[in-house]
Amino acid sequence: MTLPDRDDVSRRKFLQAAVAVGGAAGLSACLGESDGGGTERIDAPAGGSLDDRPARQHAWNDVLERDQDGNVRPPAHHVLADFSLVADGTPGDSDRETVEEALRELERAIALQPDGLLFTVGYTPAYFDRFDEKLPDDVDLPDPGPVTYLENSETIAFDTHDLTVHLASDDPAVVLAAEEALLGNRETLNGHEMATSFDGVLERAGEPDDRRTGFVGPGLPAQKQDEGEVEGMPDHDIAEGAPFWMGYRSGFQESQATEEYVEIEGGAFAGGTTQHVETLRVQINTWFDQDSHHERVSKLFSHVHADEDRVGEFGEKLGTSTGIMDAVDDTATDARDPGVVGHAQKAAREREDGVPPLLRRDFNTTVAGNLPGVHFLALQDEISTFERVRRAMAGEELAENGAVSVRQNNGILQYLSVLRRGNYLVPPRAHRSLPTPNP
Ligand code: HEM
Repeated sequence: MTLPDRDDVSRRKFLQAAVAVGGAAGLSACLGESDGGGTERIDAPAGGSLDDRPARQHAWNDVLERDQDGNVRPPAHHVLADFSLVADGTPGDSDRETVEEALRELERAIALQPDGLLFTVGYTPAYFDRFDEKLPDDVDLPDPGPVTYLENSETIAFDTHDLTVHLASDDPAVVLAAEEALLGNRETLNGHEMATSFDGVLERAGEPDDRRTGFVGPGLPAQKQDEGEVEGMPDHDIAEGAPFWMGYRSGFQESQATEEYVEIEGGAFAGGTTQHVETLRVQINTWFDQDSHHERVSKLFSHVHADEDRVGEFGEKLGTSTGIMDAVDDTATDARDPGVVGHAQKAAREREDGVPPLLRRDFNTTVAGNLPGVHFLALQDEISTFERVRRAMAGEELAENGAVSVRQNNGILQYLSVLRRGNYLVPPRAHRSLPTPNP
């Protein structure tokens, strides 16, 4: 990806392009745009003392803002920065100290706030395979592989690098500057001198044009559509208030697990969580141009939500609850008549005593060149929990027994294809730096 000419595009578009391009070029473009001066300084709240940092890396909700209904509002800009160890074999104590010190430097430099920096570090099963020792039984972290019956016909890449740092902020320059600082490409970060970086211990994994970045927030998909740069966009207008490509709000409080609920309960990694990242191509041109609003709401929520106009244009009628539990018990009968089942309706079948087991932190991106996509990031206690919900979303038995087919009218399956999957352990903060399997 290359940066557009500054004079040809809007400010927001230029900033999003800068995050996707990354590196020094992306950052200086971003900085020049953020403060108008092209200086090497970002302007974020300073980090200060590390004593108040939460023990859980994934504890973001207390500091994140809320929307007008009280739902957690995710940060707008995201980078999933993939790294691998420079050396073969297992990391030593000095490597561990270097990584920990680099992460602490990020924390000293920038506050844990939406306009500051939120981050987690997650480790793949491939990382733990470096050790002879096995992960304790409390940690369910299988190698990534196909999850649903549909994936036998898809070509999916599985993550085998060592670790991913998920960087998030409302300020696009912050995520880029933090990534560059970890790589050792910046001496100062937000005016703070970076005494240490990952340099020498970790290196960027994957090809430079494989960078995983994205954005989420009301108005951003509509803005992308207006700018006309992304391919595969619909003719139908995406609602101004929609934060996601498919045009509806998501992440309502009542359909999200709490940060406590997704914790690993016992053992050395207690307080940590597991993370699944699935990259999807999303065919929003078909979604918007072939389906009516009634069909879209039926497929995303349930036909009852569509019949009773419960959702509104983009979900504005739903406060903190989709009320999806009203429709869950009817999923199999709905598959026969009227012959359509909703995505949320299917997924909610896997709630545990009414409690959703996944904490979803997904965001929009572009994939396969420049087509709409999603990095679907979910936190849960065990990867098997994710797989259980994902299979419920695929609804194989509904296609066998109902009037819906494998992909048609079976939630949103028709519009999605899986490109990439990865499983991660996100340890508690105390063990976030190159942990052994039993720290
Ligand atoms: C482009 C892809 C996706 C889109 C646009 C999407 C959209 C939505 C929407 C609009 C809702 C209802 C609002 C809400 O409850 O927050 C929802 C709920 C949900 N989705 Fe997705 N989703 C996508 C992919 C996935 C995937 C891959 C999973 C993996 C299992 C998933 C799991 C869930 C779950 C668990 C719920 C909540 C169900 C409940 O209320 O218990 N979604 N999604």
